[in-house]
Amino acid sequence: MPKVIPTALRALAASIAAATVIASSFAQENEPILPLPAAPRVDARKAALGQYLFNDKRLSRDNSTSCASCHDLSRGGADGRVTGIGVGGARGIVNVPTVFNSSLNFRQHWDGLAASLEEQIPHPVTNPIEMGSNWTEVLAKLSKDAPLAEEFKKTYPAGGLEAANLVDAIATYERTLVTPNARFDKYLRGDASALSADELRGYRLFKSYGCVACHQGVNVGGNMFQTFGVMGDYFAQRGNPSPADLGRFNVTKKASDRHVFKVPSLRNVALTAPYFHDGSARTLDEAVEVMFRFQLGRTASAQDKALIVKFLQTLTGEFNGKPLRPGAPRQD
Ligand code: HEC
Ligand code: HEC
Repeated sequence: MPKVIPTALRALAASIAAATVIASSFAQENEPILPLPAAPRVDARKAALGQYLFNDKRLSRDNSTSCASCHDLSRGGADGRVTGIGVGGARGIVNVPTVFNSSLNFRQHWDGLAASLEEQIPHPVTNPIEMGSNWTEVLAKLSKDAPLAEEFKKTYPAGGLEAANLVDAIATYERTLVTPNARFDKYLRGDASALSADELRGYRLFKSYGCVACHQGVNVGGNMFQTFGVMGDYFAQRGNPSPADLGRFNVTKKASDRHVFKVPSLRNVALTAPYFHDGSARTLDEAVEVMFRFQLGRTASAQDKALIVKFLQTLTGEFNGKPLRPGAPRQD
């Protein structure tokens, strides 16, 4: 065989590959959901300090509770409870959202209270039912830890161990908590075999029923506010009204913000039961049922709902190159 043929074939193969990349990136542009990017490059020293602090119970009044107590990375970045448990066993008033990919949400908290990760961090530290402390107390404890104070001095030569630097270190670490390479992202990037036929049908239903009107973008949510109960009174049906049910109203005091919530990200949602700000849905099936009824005002066949759940299960990504897994069942 003349040598020119393999060369020509290679060129042809390369141009087909290039065309496929172009085609798949076009396909992705038409999709309402985008693949998660890899974790950003951050200052490794700051992130390491942030990781240490995220797991440090001295940030709480009685040294009982760290950020990780409620945001457990082995439980999808949440705690698996209906509502969180803080210092002295205090029960929280809302379900704990995941910290994974929270850097990609347009605001933080169910009601959008905090505009950034930096703005969010002081809330749990000072909340009496979460960590119940304050920076003065925390800094007094941490400054007795000579190696830690030394590490802060090296990492933040300007201020060393001070509140703004604690916040910066934790936020830097939080920006590394992204979970790329979900099977669905592989599909979006052009790997047609990454999803089963049922999962793909589930995705098409997720689009055609209109779930994507609210759950969209890189985080499959986390980029807008919406009323919970657009098509019916969810709260009347559930009963037991709580102040937290007022949602964004608690931040803005505007009547039009009653029962308005940040649309949560559905990334890794299979790992973060129970669901909703009130933790009322124990399973994904229950959550999808509520969404059909109160957000879409539609009914769907059991089969369609099951296919959507199958699609949602393809949104589980990887952290540090390893697939995320469900945590052990909770007793409390
Ligand atoms: C006692 C449990 C508890 C502890 C401890 C705790 N959190 Fe949270 N966290 C929550 C709850 C509950 C929310 C939701 C609050 C709300 O929406 O009103 C939340 C929300 C968040 C969010 C916003 C996520 C989103 O998508 O809206 C981030 C980020 C976060 N916490 C980080 C932290 C950090 C960092 C610490 C430690 C400094 C911490 N949390 C300590 C329970 C806790
Ligand atoms: C009109 C906007 C809107 C539409 C449409 C919508 N959702 Fe939601 N979704 C929300 C809001 C807002 C919440 C948070 C409600 C709360 O807990 O306060 C939510 C919560 C969820 C949750 C729980 C997530 C968690 O971490 O607790 C799931 C799962 C979910 N939606 C799936 C779906 C599916 C599937 C569809 C289509 C059948 C859908 N949603 C349609 C706005 C919407």
